[in-house]
Amino acid sequence: MHVAHLSLADFRCYARVEVPLDPGVTAFTGPNGQGKTNLVEAVGYLATLGSHRVAGDAPLVRLGAERAVVRGLVVRDERQTLIELELNPGRANRARINRSDNVRPRDVLGLLRTVLFAPEDLALVKGDPGERRRFLDELLTLRAPRLAGVRQDYERVLKQRNALLKSAAQARRGAGRGMDLSTLDVWDDHLARAGAELLAQRLDLVAALQPLVARAYEELAPSGGGTVLEYRSSMGEGVPLSGGREALYAALTAALGAARKQELERGLTLVGPHRDELGLRLGDLPAKGYASHGECWSYALALRLASYDLLRADEFGGPEGPSNTGGGGLAGGPVLILDDVFAELDARRRERLAERVATGEQVLVTAAVPEDVPEALRGARYSVQDGEVTRV
Ligand SMILES: Nc1ncnc2c1ncn2[C@@H]1O[C@H](COP(=O)(O)OP(=O)(O)OP(=O)(O)O)[C@@H](O)[C@H]1O
Ligand SMILES: [Mg+2]
Repeated sequence: MHVAHLSLADFRCYARVEVPLDPGVTAFTGPNGQGKTNLVEAVGYLATLGSHRVAGDAPLVRLGAERAVVRGLVVRDERQTLIELELNPGRANRARINRSDNVRPRDVLGLLRTVLFAPEDLALVKGDPGERRRFLDELLTLRAPRLAGVRQDYERVLKQRNALLKSAAQARRGAGRGMDLSTLDVWDDHLARAGAELLAQRLDLVAALQPLVARAYEELAPSGGGTVLEYRSSMGEGVPLSGGREALYAALTAALGAARKQELERGLTLVGPHRDELGLRLGDLPAKGYASHGECWSYALALRLASYDLLRADEFGGPEGPSNTGGGGLAGGPVLILDDVFAELDARRRERLAERVATGEQVLVTAAVPEDVPEALRGARYSVQDGEVTRV
């Protein structure tokens, strides 16, 4: 799929901008702070209803404006879909699909799929476990939008259960005696059910990503140590993570039982997917705390490229994945966005990355220095300056 036209009104630094886009590679270049990332951020927003840079929508609306509009014409298998999103910070956002406003914003999910790599992704490797959990969960929902519901269920149950644990902890401290905990058993069951579903999905995803991340990293950094993804459950080392949903449900139920005393003391749910970690190893060492800056960068990029490969393989349905799509040509798959990636890579890594992604149906790249964009990614070029986007 690709975006054939992007149109912004009062989005970030743009009062209005119209950007016609072709399949293949498009590079946006121009000095710092001119609005390159803002453009690709808008494309990412059409796909995910969120920004890779900020949690809320308020910073996306141009200073002084009341609302922003992001419009994208998406072409998939020669079918066109016009997605329009109106961002109203503090109020509900609105969506239109093919000019029909009888839709909710989340109906837009799945119409456009993007994989975006940006400097912020360094946090995937160096940041807190929450960053890696979010990476997994976002990829899950990108692959199967229905899993957004599973995540929501889990979050809701977790919130309720935490509230109950908190008041139980307060009651214990205050009156010196417990409160009725029979409802906690019910919440344990809900949590274990929803948690087992989410956990099973994450484990499948990690297994699917494992060889793709290893391959992507190897291609970027052939002499580097191998990458290993290790899903570490908050249930503890000894608990097997195999056997499917029912086994995971039983394991979570048992783990919640074992943790109850401690949970009542702390007033917090200590077991479940919200406390799990995706360990990233490079060779014999964890990447976090050990890997060099360049290695962390390559690792983060490998995670995104692996996501891209996986989504592309989904689309073609073949177990061989992207190699099955044949060499060259515009091979479909999600839109790949590389924000400011080349400046950080040495010449050889740049070339390797360029060769690897050059056959994507649409690849959008940004760079402050045009010379940083490798020869293999020769495509359309836009210069971005003072909020003007001009084809060069
Ligand atoms: N809500 C907003 N309203 C007005 N201007 C904004 C808003 N949000 C961001 N900007 C401005 O947009 C400008 C361009 O940001 P952007 O991140 O797209 O730059 P860039 O071209 O990617 O730069 P770099 O090469 O440094 O990455 C910034 O100067 C910023 O101040
Ligand atoms: Mg930028």
